[in-house]
Amino acid sequence: MTIVSVKQALAGVQAGQAVTVQGWVRTRRDSKAGLSFINLADGSCFAPIQIVAPATLANYESEIKRLSAGCALRASGTLSPSQGQGQAFEIQASAIEVTGFVEDPETYPIQPKAHSMEFLREVAHLRPRTNLIGAVARVRHTAMSAIHRYLGAQGFFWVNTPIITTSDAEGAGDMFRVSTLDLANLPRTPGGGIDFGKDFFGKEAFLTVSGQLNVEAYCLALSKVYTFGPTFRAENSNTARHLAEFWMIEPEIAFADLDADATLAEGFLKAIFQAVLDERMDDLAFFAERVEPSVIRRIESFVREPFARLDYSEAIRILEKAPRKFEFPVAWGIDLQTEHERYLAEEHVGRPVVVMNYPEAIKAFYMRLNDDGRTVAAMDVLAPGIGEIIGGSQREERLDYLDRRMLQFKLDPAHYQWYRDLRRYGTVPHAGFGLGFERLLVYLCGLGNIRDAIPYPRTPGSATF
Ligand code: 4AD
Ligand code: MG
Repeated sequence: MTIVSVKQALAGVQAGQAVTVQGWVRTRRDSKAGLSFINLADGSCFAPIQIVAPATLANYESEIKRLSAGCALRASGTLSPSQGQGQAFEIQASAIEVTGFVEDPETYPIQPKAHSMEFLREVAHLRPRTNLIGAVARVRHTAMSAIHRYLGAQGFFWVNTPIITTSDAEGAGDMFRVSTLDLANLPRTPGGGIDFGKDFFGKEAFLTVSGQLNVEAYCLALSKVYTFGPTFRAENSNTARHLAEFWMIEPEIAFADLDADATLAEGFLKAIFQAVLDERMDDLAFFAERVEPSVIRRIESFVREPFARLDYSEAIRILEKAPRKFEFPVAWGIDLQTEHERYLAEEHVGRPVVVMNYPEAIKAFYMRLNDDGRTVAAMDVLAPGIGEIIGGSQREERLDYLDRRMLQFKLDPAHYQWYRDLRRYGTVPHAGFGLGFERLLVYLCGLGNIRDAIPYPRTPGSATF
C-alpha cells in the first residue's frame, strides 16, 4: 500500500491503485444500504477526502460505527472516481485502522459546526483542526516560504539576529525584561519580595523589539540582507491589531534611499500576494465564502495596481479636507491613527499607499533627518482594510546627526556604541523596512483579529498554551 496525502489522493495520484490515507475524522454518515461515509482530513489541503466504509469490514460494528469528529485513523483501499458532489476521487476502503478514538465525543470541542473565534482561542491546541485555522496555517507557511524565495532570488541573505538584547531598537521603551531565576532559591529583597535585580548574568537584558540594528551591521558588509524572526512588544494594547509576540521580516539594503526602499516594499509585497494566489486558492476561496467576501478581489487588485505615494504633509492636508470627522483630531505633527490610515488607503486613494517623510519628533531615532530639518525619511505602507502593515526608513548614516537624535530621545549612547561604529567605519546611505507578518496574514485571510493569524497568540494576560 502506498501512503498518500489527502491532497495527492484528491488529485488522483495513484488513481485505481491501492493506497493508504491517514488523518482525522471530520464527519461520519451511515447510509441505509449498510455503508458509512467518512470525511477524513489530514491538513495537506483544504478539502477532506471521502472514505467509503462497507459493513463487511471486520471492525465495522465494533469501531467504524463509533467514529466521531476528531478520531484518528488509517484507511486503506482503492482510490476510485467519486460519484459524490464536488470531489473527483474517494477511497473504497478495504481496511480501516483506528489509531485514536475521541474519549468523550459530546465534549470534544471541535464539533462539525461553526465556532466563535473567541471560543477557538480557548482551545488553541485543537483549533488547527478547524477549516479556518488550518487554512490560516497553510497560508502562513506559503507566505513565509514566498518571502524567503523572493528575497533569495533578489540576492538577499537571511541573517539571524538575536532575541535577547540590551539595546532598545526602536527607542520606544516597550520591552520585556529577561530574568535568570533559580526557582528553588529566589533572591529576596529586604522587604521579602522577589529581587529581580539585573538578571541576564548580572546585566540588564530584554527581548528584542526588532532585529533592525543588528541586521544593519550585516547590511554594511553583505549589502542586501534580511532578518525574519519573533519580536516582542510590551505595549499594553489590547486591540485586534497588536500582539505582544509577533514575527517581523526586516530587509535592509545598502547604498539605497527612501525611494529605493518603497520600491523594494512594493515588489516584495506583490510577490508574496501572487504566491498565495498561485498556491492557496482553495484556502482563499474558503475565506471569501466564510470570512470576508472581498478577500480574493482585494489581493488581486493589490498585485495589479501600482501603490500610491504620498508625502505625510500632503496626507495631513487630505485628512483635514476629508468630508468626515475623525475621533482623533488632525494636525501637522500627529502620528497617524488607524482611522486616518484607513481613510487614506480605503476612501481617498482606494489602494495601498506609501506615506513618506513624517515629522521627526514622532519617529524613531535612527531615521534620517531630511534637509527641511523637521521631517525624517520614514515611510509606512498603508493597506485598505487594515492600515499600516510596513514601517521603514532611510537610516541616519551621519554620525553627528545620529548622536543629536539619540540625545534628543534621551537614549544612552553607551548602549549603542557598536551601532555608532557603523557610522564611523565606512558609512553609506542605507534603508530598510519591517513587515509585521501577522498583520499581513490578517489582510491575506480577511481575518478580524490578529490573534487568529498566529498559532499561539501572546497578548496582555494570555500565554496559556
Ligand atoms: O513600525 P515598526 O515598529 O518598525 C520597526 O520595528 C522597524 N525596526 C522596522 C524596520 O525599519 N526594520 O514595526 C514594523 C511593523 C509594523 O508596520 C507592523 O506591521 C508590525 O511591525 N507591528 C506589529 N504587529 C503586531 N503586533 C504589534 N504589537 C506590532 N507592532 C508593530
Ligand atoms: Mg510603525
